[in-house]
Amino acid sequence: MSVIISPSLLSCDFANVQRDVEMINASSADWFHIDVMDGVFVPNISFGLPVIEAIKRHAKKPLDVHLMIQNVDPYISDFKKAGADILTVHYEACTHLHRTIQVIKAEGMKAGVALNPHTPVDLLQDIIADLDLVLIMSVNPGFGGQKFINNAVLRVEQTKNLIHRTGSHALVEVDGGVNLQTGAELVEAGADALVAGSFVFNSKDPLATIADLKALK
Ligand code: DX5
Ligand code: ZN
Repeated sequence: MSVIISPSLLSCDFANVQRDVEMINASSADWFHIDVMDGVFVPNISFGLPVIEAIKRHAKKPLDVHLMIQNVDPYISDFKKAGADILTVHYEACTHLHRTIQVIKAEGMKAGVALNPHTPVDLLQDIIADLDLVLIMSVNPGFGGQKFINNAVLRVEQTKNLIHRTGSHALVEVDGGVNLQTGAELVEAGADALVAGSFVFNSKDPLATIADLKALK
């Protein structure tokens, strides 16, 4: 299976969201990566439910929603209604992570857990069998366009080992600072999915850039 490409709309032109959604529809990308930030868990505020609903009306590919919010549980069914297909929560934000994951799955979404760069991968040992996705952060979450933290490559290998050891079927996705160089290293280390924001939307030809990422494996 070739690597899944999930362009992050955080770097799209917010005055032309429909145009950029249609560009991704026409591209070889697989998912739409949607970054929700609350100004509490991360030092930035992005967008919320009405924007996701609007994207869903035009998107022809699954919505891969990355919640960088502190208080997840009261909003899980709202994200389902807004159109999320995959809902990823941060390990660091969820006190009752097992319950949160069960609720996401009961709502009919795929469930993911994101790890900040400092959070040991092995902390997922007792939840990994329940997960559809692990999101390895290769930057500190909050902003697009940051520099890739190289240790993420090793962390992808550690996550793949944990998945194999436990018989989990989770996919490993990586988010932050992905370009053709870092993407190649991540795919080599076993990444199943790559998020790319500024590398896609700041490029001269986003369709070609997505195709280049897609060709990494
Ligand atoms: C950062 C977000 C990312 C962001 C990635 O907190 O989770 O999805 O859009 O942006 P780039 O690809 O520019 O690092
Ligand atoms: Zn993200």
